[in-house]
Amino acid sequence: MTIRAVVRGIGHYLPENVVENAAFEKTLDTTDEWIRSRSGIERRHFASEGETTSRMAVLAAKAALDDAGMAVSDVDAIVVATSTPDLTFPSSASMVQAQLGMERGFAFDVQAVCAGFVYALANANALVVSGQADRVLVIGAETFSRIMDWKDRSTSVLFGDGAGAVIVEKQDGTGQSSDRGILATDLNSDGRFKDLLYVDGGTSTGTTGYLRMQGNQVFRHAVEKLAATAQTAMTRAGVTHDEVDWVVPHQANIRIIQGTAKKMNVPMEKVIVTVQNHGNTSAASIPLALSVGKQSGKLKTGDLIVTEAIGGGLAWGSVVFRL
Ligand code: UT7
Repeated sequence: MTIRAVVRGIGHYLPENVVENAAFEKTLDTTDEWIRSRSGIERRHFASEGETTSRMAVLAAKAALDDAGMAVSDVDAIVVATSTPDLTFPSSASMVQAQLGMERGFAFDVQAVCAGFVYALANANALVVSGQADRVLVIGAETFSRIMDWKDRSTSVLFGDGAGAVIVEKQDGTGQSSDRGILATDLNSDGRFKDLLYVDGGTSTGTTGYLRMQGNQVFRHAVEKLAATAQTAMTRAGVTHDEVDWVVPHQANIRIIQGTAKKMNVPMEKVIVTVQNHGNTSAASIPLALSVGKQSGKLKTGDLIVTEAIGGGLAWGSVVFRL
């Protein structure tokens, strides 16, 4: 018998404040046309004052619990993927635990920037498979608007805020790729690429800092590494590209999404794309896309789904699961 972590519920939260590309034309030497054609982004949501990462995570978690038909008392553990915690510590996950009124279990954060959700889901899978927890709430939540240098046109037009959540639950499987649940994971990092994407603040500076990115350098790594990690996870899962129902990629740039799908031999009709409406929401982008994909009726029970993401670190990875 094989233990599987099966996705039971998916939910998300997006801040009300929507900012169109054109708004940046007033303050920066940029155009809607440049942002659209280079990234695929048309608009993004920004958190309002007082709207924190943990608050958005809680709202996404509640939506996922509703979707699963579960109460917070059913949850054994919370894992939050974020690079924009409310405070340096305690973890955003423990703040979410308190705000949800959860009085038992355990909670911790995962910090792998844009690959954070894939890392968190892989860790949740390990908790379930090893018997540490039967039900895990996995959240990706970010307020990247708070680490933007608004004078930097090469980064500030690309990111957005939001949160998405899934609940995975232990279920017995057969060990075959026809099982529901997480079938395989693949995680990678290479710290030698730190300078390509980082935030220039922390305890070393005493400031929160701003995001700095050599976008075209990150781009060069993205398609190749994403296609490779997806292929590794698919091989481990025992599935081939023609069996894939949906690719749910990290939403950083439509050209990366298209290039990766092409390399994976999966047509764009089978790719969930939300980058036009959300921008790059880092660790929140995959659970947001999963939730939007489910709500739109595209993602259905039994579908074979491949998620893949890359970000600061560099860190990248993939999770293959059957919904
Ligand atoms: O999620 C974490 C991982 N991050 C990513 O995956 C991001 C990966 N990178 C990208 O998405 C793309 O590299 C960008 C969208 C960031 C940039 O697209 P690009 O085609 O790689 O452009 P570039 O950085 O090579 O810049 C081309 C030109 C430059 O001008 P020059 O040097 O050719 O004169 C930039 O200064 O575009 C200029 N530029 C802009 N122009 C108008 C940069 N930002 C802007 C802007 N508006 N906002």
